[in-house]
Amino acid sequence: MKFTSLAVLGAFASIASAFVSPTAPIGETIWKPNTQATITWVDDGKIEPFLNTTPVFDVSFMTGSNMKMTKLSTIATNVTGNVTWSLNWIVPNVSPPGQIYFLQFETVDRPTPVYAWSTRFTITDAQGSAPPIPPPSITFSGNGSIIPTPTNIAATGASISNANPTATAAASKSGAVSLTASVLTVASAIGAVVMMAL
Ligand SMILES: *[C@@H]1O[C@H](CO)[C@@H](O)[C@H](O)[C@H]1NC(C)=O
Ligand SMILES: *[C@@H]1O[C@H](CO)[C@@H](O)[C@H](O)[C@H]1NC(C)=O
Ligand SMILES: *[C@@H]1O[C@H](CO)[C@@H](O)[C@H](O)[C@H]1NC(C)=O
Repeated sequence: MKFTSLAVLGAFASIASAFVSPTAPIGETIWKPNTQATITWVDDGKIEPFLNTTPVFDVSFMTGSNMKMTKLSTIATNVTGNVTWSLNWIVPNVSPPGQIYFLQFETVDRPTPVYAWSTRFTITDAQGSAPPIPPPSITFSGNGSIIPTPTNIAATGASISNANPTATAAASKSGAVSLTASVLTVASAIGAVVMMAL
């Protein structure tokens, strides 16, 4: 038991201390689908590349365990550190809701990628509900997925549009570039939604 939590802490320590340190989302963050969230980060100050060397990186939406991470979508590509300091993102619908989602920052401008991860944060269901955040001593991981917007289903009964959620990532800070990224639809989730609608 003690060994397990030490191993988990170790994994988190190594992944939490890479080149950028996300300031949103953090562990207490609760985001609701179809709302605009702002992703922010600061220089980690310890691990290179430092942001003042303008590293270029991708930001991805992730789920899964530390050992088996699953990338659910690309939020932004070719973000230049020290030029762009935040991203606006339309939060997708997910299943299940809960504190099982995180972000990955991955450099793309050097032979060996450098990674940074946010801690796991909560995405609610479309109504804003989610299971309570577990105490910090409990490691909570799960393999979530992106699902089509469920509002269509409520409005039209069993009809399902082949929804393809999109995320918009707009760079902030003066004169910065605008970025858009499309989100992968997780086809396997559609079956579950159909069942709920019946
Ligand atoms: C990066 O940040 C440093 C420190 O804030 C600043 O001096 C430098 O001009 C910045 N470089 C670019 C390319 O924005
Ligand atoms: C990112 O930048 C690289 C290098 O400039 C370029 O080859 C690639 O096409 C860019 N990717 C996107 C999605 O813009
Ligand atoms: C998590 O789900 C993805 C599909 O969304 C699947 O490819 C992957 O194998 C799953 N991982 C685990 C550990 O179940």
